[in-house]
Amino acid sequence: MTVLLTGGAGYIGSHVAVEMINAGFNVVIADNLSAGHKDVPERIKTLTGVSFPFFEIDICDKEAVRGIFDSFSVDAVVHAAGYKAVAESVSLPLKYYRNNTDGALTLLEVMAERGVKAFVFSSSATVYGIPDTVPIKETAHTGDCLNAYGRTKYIIEKILEDLCRSDPLFSAVPLRYFNPVGAHRSGLLGDDPIGVPNNLMPYILRVAAGRLPELNIFGNDYPTKDGTCIRDYIHVVDLAKGHTAAVDYAVKHSGYEVFNLGTGIGYSVLDMVRVFEKVTGRPLPYKFAPRREGDSAEYLADPSKAEKNLGWRAVLTIEDMCFDAQRYEGGKEQ
Ligand code: UFG
Repeated sequence: MTVLLTGGAGYIGSHVAVEMINAGFNVVIADNLSAGHKDVPERIKTLTGVSFPFFEIDICDKEAVRGIFDSFSVDAVVHAAGYKAVAESVSLPLKYYRNNTDGALTLLEVMAERGVKAFVFSSSATVYGIPDTVPIKETAHTGDCLNAYGRTKYIIEKILEDLCRSDPLFSAVPLRYFNPVGAHRSGLLGDDPIGVPNNLMPYILRVAAGRLPELNIFGNDYPTKDGTCIRDYIHVVDLAKGHTAAVDYAVKHSGYEVFNLGTGIGYSVLDMVRVFEKVTGRPLPYKFAPRREGDSAEYLADPSKAEKNLGWRAVLTIEDMCFDAQRYEGGKEQ
């Protein structure tokens, strides 16, 4: 089976590529390298021992996308390309609406031309907005997104729902990621954000490396066990394996079926600090800072639907996430 993977040079996409190749899929990667790194395709080849076609194209370029479908008999598409910086999406919403929806529409249009029916989409738990209850089931209310980034994910989910309604043979599987962290155990692939990171783990890594003075913990007065926010952190390799299962599912079924990818286990920011210090032996200076706008006290997946229908379950621990993230960062320091 041949799978076109967009965003395959990015953080999530590169791990998805490795797991899909290991599972025996023929993978074709398209990435414009706007956030991904030039040497990532080579690293994926080193890790898997498998060569694969890599196209440095913008997926909003329909002719370029058609070129890929002309060259390969694509059975399914995993769409992981897209802008993802929440803060930037607030200041530059048009950039996000244009790029993220255009990329998805272009792919879907070319798939329609060529009769390709299986689409797995990188969505986000952010479509749930501020949840009424946790753990969050896929049936929970969506759409009250807190930023343009999240709304692009929501809009693409809705486009996919409409498409499935119009074409009973089409299969769309959005995967709602909770908080992906960690890195490949080899230390060859990981998260490499440009500039000062917004997300917790990349920020922790910079502090541990002495490149930033201390971690600011946003809020210690939330109604949680220690006052700091609780999140469902999931190892990126577990998340990637969820995509392999989702592709299998998408090619065997039709219709719209969305899945949470999370562990169902919550850790507070202070838990993360303590586990990171314990696992890596690196001290992590921190101070409490005011709450960050748009954060909710607790985000936690109910991952049971993915387990039941995809046969997938996250197995790696919070210790694995901290250890592997630090190992990747350490490799960059050398
Ligand atoms: N945090 C800090 N200090 C920091 C960074 C983060 O205390 O320097 C805290 C946040 O307040 C939050 C937790 O760490 O409580 C996790 O924050 P992240 O920014 O790592 O992750 P979020 O939960 O805010 O966002 C993540 C993804 C988004 C996605 C969202 C909803 O990054 O892409 O989950 O699923 F939309």
